[in-house]
Formats: sequence, structure tokens, C-alpha cells
Amino acid sequence: MTASHDVVIIGGGGAGLRAAIAIAEHNPRLSIAIVSKVYPMRSHTVSAEGGAAAVAGPGDSLDEHAYDTVSGSDWLCDQDAVEAFVEEAPRELLQLEHWGCPWSRRPDGRIAVRAFGGMTNNRTWFAADKTGFHMLHTLFQTALSYRDIVRYDEWFATTLLVDDGKVCGVVAIELATGRVETILASAVIVCTGGCGRVYPFTTNANINTGDGMALAYRAGAPLKDMEFVQYHPTGLPFTGILITEAARAEGGWLLNKDGYRYLQDYDLGTPSPVPVMRSMELGPRDRLSQAFVHELDKGRTVGTPYGHVVHLDIRHLGADLIDTKLPFVRELCTKYQNIDPVRELIPVRPVVHYMMGGIHTDIHGATPLEGLYAVGEVACVSINGANRLGSNSLPELLVFGARAGRAAAEYASSATARETSAVLARGRAEQDRLKRKLARHAEGSERIAPIRTEMQETLEASAGIYRDGDSLAKGADKVRELRERFGCACLDDHSRAFNTELVAVLELSCMLDVAECIITCALAREESRGAHQRTDFPARNDERFLAHSMIHRQKDGSGRVSYLPVTITRWPPGERIYGR
Ligand code: FUM
Repeated sequence: MTASHDVVIIGGGGAGLRAAIAIAEHNPRLSIAIVSKVYPMRSHTVSAEGGAAAVAGPGDSLDEHAYDTVSGSDWLCDQDAVEAFVEEAPRELLQLEHWGCPWSRRPDGRIAVRAFGGMTNNRTWFAADKTGFHMLHTLFQTALSYRDIVRYDEWFATTLLVDDGKVCGVVAIELATGRVETILASAVIVCTGGCGRVYPFTTNANINTGDGMALAYRAGAPLKDMEFVQYHPTGLPFTGILITEAARAEGGWLLNKDGYRYLQDYDLGTPSPVPVMRSMELGPRDRLSQAFVHELDKGRTVGTPYGHVVHLDIRHLGADLIDTKLPFVRELCTKYQNIDPVRELIPVRPVVHYMMGGIHTDIHGATPLEGLYAVGEVACVSINGANRLGSNSLPELLVFGARAGRAAAEYASSATARETSAVLARGRAEQDRLKRKLARHAEGSERIAPIRTEMQETLEASAGIYRDGDSLAKGADKVRELRERFGCACLDDHSRAFNTELVAVLELSCMLDVAECIITCALAREESRGAHQRTDFPARNDERFLAHSMIHRQKDGSGRVSYLPVTITRWPPGERIYGR
């Protein structure tokens, strides 16, 4: 079966919904489809907690937000993208307010802003500590008011259709029925979020399996800066559930097993009873996660059945503040850790949280592949460089979601129809491939789950907070072996309705591609910068590596790495200084 729209958006989270609204506003005559593997309100944006950064008035400036972002990125971001971002972020957050987002308020009624790691001023807008839920809800209800936004909820996009160097649609499976459909489009925007599930311990939802990155990569778009994987310093052990940085912004302390605020030993300032900007617990995430590893090495962490932890102490904030500003932290600790943070210490450890890298785009979300756009965590525009500052990702998906939506609308408004016999034949070939996959009976010894587990363990062991050439080379060999084994994996479940095993196969094939890209790029970058710390190359090397890594898929399936200089507009590379 074949359907046709002007623009197809893959992913129904914050980025996808913001792009859809921008298209509908830009050209109401365009037909827009959102293809999402989950119902939009279950997209991972929903779990964002702490807030969204944007300059909110006097006492702060766009330049300071830009500088914090550039230095936080260890100078690997593109400064033209950062300048556009900081300028448009306040407008986007205000727009959300007008669409109904219930931002938390100060007593006088103005929008409340809180501190966040690596930021010079209070500029993080929040809705208690459920910011993602409220933003997603606002975007979803706004999108519902546009009749020309058609939704394919619980459809999994399995391939991008490309003809003559241009993207012209997708093939997707309806999960409820197993029906496979070719969906033609003049433009496609990929908004599928990150790939944290390639690692074993992550804040990411089960759905974050790098599907969009793999689809674009296979279609010929390069991925950028894939070696930069962000560990958030405070995840709950066992589940990996995020304990928001807002807990530290409100005054929480990180303590080692001796009750000592250990960050003072890592060039992050001296302890103060009240939070100090860019200092101690309000340092950047890369530095805080690295400090944890050193505490572990010194034997100053606490052993638990779910790995070593340190403690987050928010008891001194008191029940009133916690219930007003951090109610979700209390709820998560109670439900998932069986502790009450009003009275008890919260065990935490670093957890994979965010991919700085992704599909290479320009500042309008356009990829080098004509007709293909990408936004949000799946993309690399790049404002995050080697280390993202907390609370920059929500405004990023708004600013660049709107930009990509407008650019794709412009492109689709003048593009010619793509319904050629070659495209339809490609669609049919993909349908046949999926049918064959479903029909293949379980004869061999390979199953999906062990391959997935081994891949995750390999990534953690070889491309964790600290890496080196040997561990990465071993990781690369292991992922190659896993890919071979994956080729022999079979299905036990041949049903068509909600075949979760088939979904797991499709997701694992994406994750293996992404895993290989992460390791290949990490091996090639022989320096330490931001979240990429090579113990065999401990210094930053601007001479060789003030550049984005770009990985291109070759005909034999392997990745070739090249480098693209970063764009510097106003802030030449300097030292990252915190705690002073
Ligand atoms: O800690 C947090 O609330 C996370 C925020 C972010 O990743 O931007």
C-alpha cells in the first residue's frame, strides 16, 4: 500500500511536534505526517525533568548564554548555531507559554528561573521538575488543533526511500497489524531522539535505540561527533532513572562515603552552603562524572548490589522546598529506591544520558542528503560540541524544530512529486525484506537478547567515561563479531500484531550500526575533550582535533571518518574554568 504527504516527520516527541506545527503555520496547504513508534505523549521528551535554558530578562545576556554553551562544549560546537540558538530560545519558551505551558512562577507572577550546571546565571525555565511532561503536553495539544497533521501512531519507520540523491519517503510498519506501507514525501524530518540504549545503564527510555541515526546513515547522510556520549552524574542505581540536576541547582550536595563534598578536590571550587554558579555541584556534567570515577578509584564510593554510588544530599532543603520544586525527585526516590529524600541520602552514580553527536545538519536542520532534515538529539547541528550543558536540549529541539519545519516546508512547497516507478519498487523491496524477516524460523542458536546485552556491555567497557586505544580496538572487534552473529539471528514470534520481537530485531540492527560509529569515531579522535576522555591522549589537541568527526557509511557497510572544522565566530578556543 502507498500513502503520500508533503512532509513526513519520523518521531512524535518535542522536536517532531514543534517541526509539525512550524510547517502547518508556514504553509497550511501542506499535508504533514508524523510517524511515531509510540503514541506521542510516550516519547522520551516526557521524561525531561529540570528545565529549559533561555535568557529571561535583566541580569543575564545572550552573550553569556552563548559563552557558557561554547565553553561547556569544550569549543567543539558551531558558534553560528549557538548564536542563533540563544537568540531564538527565549521566543520559543514564551511561545510555549502562550500555547499553555504551565511554567513555574515567582511570587510576583514572573516566570521562575533556576540555576543549572555550567551556566553563569539563573536562566533555566521549569515546570516544577516535570518540565518535559508539560512541554510535550503543550506541543501535543497544539499540534492536535491542525487538521493537516496526520498521525501514524505506533508505526515503525524501517527505511528512508532515496531516488537520484533525494529523499522521497519512508517505509513503515503499523505495529498493531504488521501492515507495511510506503509513505511518499517530498521532505522527511528525522526526530527520533537519542540512542542511550546502546549502553547498559542509561536514563533513556527503551525506545531510544538510535533508529533515526541508523536510517539516515544507511541512506547516505553522515553522522557527526558520535564519540561524545554524555554521562549524567546522578542516576538511581539499578534503574538508571534520572535524579534531576535541579536537585543540585536548588542546593543539593554530592558526598562520598565519608560524607565529604568531594568535588572540591577536582578543580571545581570550594564548598559553600548555598549553590554557587559554575562551581562544585553546579559544574558541567563531564567534569562531575569524571570526578566520580576518580573517587571510585580512590576507594571513596559506597558499594551496593547495583554498583558503586556516591550520595546526593537534599535533606537540608526541607520538605516544603522539595515538595514545591522537586516533587518528582521525592516521588521517584520513594517509588524506585524506597527512600524518602527529605530524611535520607539518595544513592546516585553516573548514567548514560545524552548523545552530543548525531545526524550532521546545517543551522536549518538540513542534512547533506537533499530532502532530509533532522532535529533534536538525533541530530548534530551542533550547539553541544563535546559536552552539552543541562537544560540546553529542550530549547534546542524547539529552536531547531521550528527552523527545520520552516525549511522543510519551503522545500516541499516547491518540490515535484516523487512517485516514480523506481521509488515504488524500492518500497516493495523493503516490504518483501520485512516479510522474509518475519517468516524466518528460529533454527540457529543466535537470539536477540544476548547479542544486545553483549553490545551494551562492550560499549560501557570500551567507550565509557574514560577510554583508550586498546579498549576501543577490542570494542570494535567485538561489535564486528556481534554484527555477524546478528546476521544469523532468527525470530521465535511470527505473528503480525504487536510483534515486539520483530521490533527488537529492527532496533538492534540500528543500535549495532550506531555502536560501531561511536567506537570508530572514538578510536580516531586521539585527544581528550569534554565527554571524550582518552587516557592514552589526556590533553585537548586543537591543532589536530578542533574539528567535527564525520562518519560516512561505505558500500561494504563500514564507516569512514573525516573531519570538518568547527565554526568559530566570536569566542576563540580557551581554557574551561569553573569554580572561580
Ligand atoms: O538533570 C536534568 O534535569 C536534565 C536536564 C537535561 O539533560 O537537560
